[in-house]
Amino acid sequence: MIPVAGLGTRLLPATKSQPKEMLPVGRKPVVQYVVEELTRVGITRVLFITGPGKASIENHFDLNAELIQTLRESGKEELLAALEYERATVQYFYTRQRQSLGLGHAVACARSFVGHQPFVVALGDSIIGMHAESDVVQRMTRCYHEREAAAVIAFEEVPHDEVSQYGIARPKTDEELFEIVDLVEKPSPREAPSNLAIAARYVLSPVIFKALAQTRRGKGGEIQLTDAIRAVIRNGGRAYGVRLRPGERRYDIGNFDAYFEAFVAFALADPKFGPALRRHLLEALDVSHP
Ligand code: UTP
Repeated sequence: MIPVAGLGTRLLPATKSQPKEMLPVGRKPVVQYVVEELTRVGITRVLFITGPGKASIENHFDLNAELIQTLRESGKEELLAALEYERATVQYFYTRQRQSLGLGHAVACARSFVGHQPFVVALGDSIIGMHAESDVVQRMTRCYHEREAAAVIAFEEVPHDEVSQYGIARPKTDEELFEIVDLVEKPSPREAPSNLAIAARYVLSPVIFKALAQTRRGKGGEIQLTDAIRAVIRNGGRAYGVRLRPGERRYDIGNFDAYFEAFVAFALADPKFGPALRRHLLEALDVSHP
């Protein structure tokens, strides 16, 4: 499941009439990287939790026969290759979150679709790893089955002075895969039990739906997914964390600072346009070439 129903207010005015998940990072919109990451690890059914103003996401993943025909007739092979993703063997489903009541509420909208199976939640505004080549979701799914977990969450180490922006784990051990004792939402650096921040990917058991139904609105009047996972842990469910590996950093484009950084990193890594951009940047920064 890919929740994409948030309002993206931190990116106004860019997100006034277009979804933040459709903002380009390098040559592709953010949400395309998310879908490619999931399909690469074998996921074939994707449910988007959408909202008002998000129709361009549906259009992006549709086959556009007319465009393909035009490109074919004019022999634009390279551009045709850029539309290859349309042919991925994925079935797309869409449902609307009718009120923006937070990520927990968005996940709850998928209850009848999910049924009794475990499922993946991948936030539509976060890319994991350059070119989305991460297999963290596969490692998380393996952990889910091997440990009979109720929840598995991806974590990224963040600088200590940034912990107050994230949900932070209280880990049982300091291994790559660790049991989560508790989660603390946006702690001060002094109170933070670690610097392991929730990193936009979850594998969840359907027991989460019961917990979500009982979760009251928390910070900002929203139903927080973290609160529901904490309730699952309190009720005896086991939750595990999987650390992102070096090279798997999370690019969350939810604010301009992070969005600009992600765009520049991906554009610089572009084999065709990266080298010229690098020269322009060095010139703009007045740095002599190494
Ligand atoms: P954010 O926590 O960044 O929230 O969402 P937001 O509302 O989009 O952004 P701001 O705070 O107004 O700037 C993380 C992911 O969860 C989805 C978003 O679309 C994004 O992909 N989300 C968030 C929902 O689907 N529904 C919600 O009610 C909130």
